[in-house]
This record gives sequence, structure tokens and C-alpha cells, in this order.
Amino acid sequence: MSLSENKLSDPRCFVALDLPTVAEAEAMVEKLGDAVDSYKIGLQLLPIGGVEFGQRLKTMGKHVFYDFKFHDIGATVEKATRSIAGLNADLLTVHARPDVMRSAVRGRGDAPLKILGVTVLTSLDQEALKAIGYNDNAESLVMRRVEQALDAGIDGVVSSPLEAAAIRAVVPDSFLVVTPGVRPKGADAGDQKRIATPSSALQAGATHLVIGRPITQAPDPRAAALAIAKEMRGV
Ligand code: C5P
Repeated sequence: MSLSENKLSDPRCFVALDLPTVAEAEAMVEKLGDAVDSYKIGLQLLPIGGVEFGQRLKTMGKHVFYDFKFHDIGATVEKATRSIAGLNADLLTVHARPDVMRSAVRGRGDAPLKILGVTVLTSLDQEALKAIGYNDNAESLVMRRVEQALDAGIDGVVSSPLEAAAIRAVVPDSFLVVTPGVRPKGADAGDQKRIATPSSALQAGATHLVIGRPITQAPDPRAAALAIAKEMRGV
């Protein structure tokens, strides 16, 4: 990623544009201006022009993370990843299943797109994992998937900030650890169960943070983004 840091923003902070329309996402990007360099587009905008919007963000010089969490048979994941690899995006998520990750690596080919594996969704706590049939606790499930991510040759994982330190201890420095579930002190946790502050997530070994509602739903989103970037630059 080549954006030079300006004084206000921190390119390691991806703002999640989980908004109902592209027009609202565009207005948010306009409002945030030079306070934010990096954006995540997820499933909410995908069916209504999110990919084309991401390409416009690239022409504005922003980093673009497509959080599409692919999870399908290998041939489909490979072809879908190839489609994204042709779009000049920076990051793409797939679920951290061995066959899915290996297929994404094949689909990416030589493109600069980085592939991230989603280990365990940060909205799932122990009780929720048990209800869907996992007997492993969240941490051991995450660590099993990190090993499989390393084997598959993807570039990093998405995980809760609470697992970042354990992951960092077993991966090379170049391996990306991207953490949602980040909440500045005093912010509403929403549906996130395993959370940390921006500085503690970075201290634990996260390379990038994903932050949505604490910025996009703040009374003054730009001020919220600036405060988070300032906290991050101190780490
Ligand atoms: O609004 P909030 O800061 O909770 O947004 C977090 C973003 O990160 C959402 O877009 C969510 O889909 C995404 N995400 C997550 N947990 C993961 C992977 C992605 O919360 N494990």
C-alpha cells in the first residue's frame, strides 16, 4: 500500500462503509475527507454498486478493502477472486477454510490483491459458537485457522483484537492481522462481543483496524475519525 501518511489520517484504519446506499457512502467519504485514507466495502453495498464505488475510491487514491467473505466450492471461489483481482483492490476477505483459502490464492494469481482469512466472526461469543456446533473455544478455533491460513499462503487474517497477540506470536512480521471489534473508550459496543480500543488492538499486534459505527454513526464522523487516527499514530 503506497499512500503517504498525512498529518491527520492513519492509513491503517479502514472505515467500514456499512451504509444503506452508495449515495450515503459517498457523502460519508466526502465528510471524512483527508481524515481517512482507507475504506472497507462489505455485503451491504456489494449488490447495489459497491464494487464500482470501490473503483471510484481507488481513483481518489484511497485504499479499498472488499469484505465479501467468500465461502463456496473451490472453483467458484477461485473464479470470484480472479474477478476481484482484476479490479485494482487492496484487500479481500474469504472464510478461513483450507480449501477456500487455497482457491483464493490460485484466483489471485500475480495481482497485488491481498487475501485475508476470516477466522471467527467477532460477533460470536462462546455461547454462540456452541449453538452453531463448534466445541472448540474461540481462541483455539482462531489459532487452528491461522495455521491453516499460513499453510494456504494467504496474506493475513481478520480476527478479534483479543486474539491479535496470540496470532502475532506465531506468524511472520509480514502477515497481516486485521481487527474489527474496535471501540474507542466509552463507545457503544453494538453487536460486537470481543472488543478493544484502537491503541490496545495495535499494541496487541494488529497491523490494521476496521472501524465502522464508532465513526459513521458518530455525531461528528470526521472528529471521531481524527481522534482515532491520533490515538493510532501514538502507537
Ligand atoms: O461498526 P463496526 O465497527 O462494528 O464494524 C465492523 C465491521 O467489520 C463490519 O463491517 C463487520 O462486518 C466487519 N467484520 C467484523 N468481524 C469480522 C469480520 C468483519 O465485525 N470477523
